[in-house]
Amino acid sequence: MLKGKVAIVTGASRGIGKATALKLASLGAMVVINYNGSEEEAKKVKQEILATGGNAEMIQCNVADYIACETFIKNVIENYGRIDILVNNAGITKDGLLIRMSEKDFSDVIDVNLKGTFHCIRFASRYMMKQKCGRIINLSSVVGVTGNVGQVNYAASKAGVIGMTKSAAKELAGRGITVNAVAPGFIETDMTEKLSEKVKEEMKKQIPLERFGKAEEVAGTIAFLASEEARYITGQVLHVDGGMVM
Ligand code: NAI
Repeated sequence: MLKGKVAIVTGASRGIGKATALKLASLGAMVVINYNGSEEEAKKVKQEILATGGNAEMIQCNVADYIACETFIKNVIENYGRIDILVNNAGITKDGLLIRMSEKDFSDVIDVNLKGTFHCIRFASRYMMKQKCGRIINLSSVVGVTGNVGQVNYAASKAGVIGMTKSAAKELAGRGITVNAVAPGFIETDMTEKLSEKVKEEMKKQIPLERFGKAEEVAGTIAFLASEEARYITGQVLHVDGGMVM
C-alpha cells in the first residue's frame, strides 16, 4: 500500500504513464499527473482517479525544460510537502534512418527522454535526500539494450537512461533512495499504434510470449518497484517484454 505517499508520474496523460498514475492512486498514493500536451487527456486521468476515491492533481511541465522542471518540483513540494515516488515516464520518438536524421530530431528525443529524466531526478532527489527516502523509476526500453534500425536517437536516449539509473542509484543509495529502470518491450499504446501492420507482425515473431504487452503490465512492475517489498532493489533494469531480452 502507498497510503500517505506522494508520487509524480511524468507524461501521465495517456499510455503507460496513465496506467501508472491509475495504479499508484489505486494503491493509495496522492498522484501528481504531469502533462505537456493535451490538458483534456490529463483532466480525464485525474477525473478517473477521483471517481474511484483516489487523490490526484495535474501539473503542466515540459520535462525537456530545465528551469520549468525546477519550478514544477518546487510546486509539488509547496503543495504536498514531500515526494516519495518519481516515475520518469515522459518520452517521444522521432524515428528515421541514421544517414537522414536531422540534428533536431536527434536532439529533441535526447532532450525529452534523457535530459527530461535528468532534470526531474536533479530537482526531486534534493528533497528525497532530506527525507532520507525515495523511489525513482525511469522508463528505458528494450531498444536501449538491443538497438533498433531507425532509432539511433531513441535507442541512445534509452541506453543513456540505463547508465543514468545505475549512476544515480550509486550516488543516492546512502540516503535511502532507490533508483531503478523498467525496460518495456512492445507495449500497445499510442507510441506503437503508429507502426505499420507489417512491422508489428515482424516484432511479434521476436516475442517468446507471442503477444504485445499492456500498459497495465508495465504499471504493475513500476508499482512493485515503488512498493515497500522492493526496498532492497536498486540500480536494476527490469525487462517487461514478454521475453524479448534474456
Ligand atoms: P505515449 O506516446 O503514449 O505517451 C507518452 C507521454 O509522454 C504522453 O502523455 C506525452 O504527452 C508525454 N510527453 C511527451 N513529451 C513530453 C514532455 N516534453 N514533457 C512532459 N510530457 C511529455 O508513450 P508510451 O508508449 O505510453 O510510453 C511511455 C514511456 O515508455 C516512454 O518513455 C517510452 O519511451 C517508454 N516505452 C514505451 C514502449 C512501448 O512499446 N509503448 C516500449 C519501451 C519504452
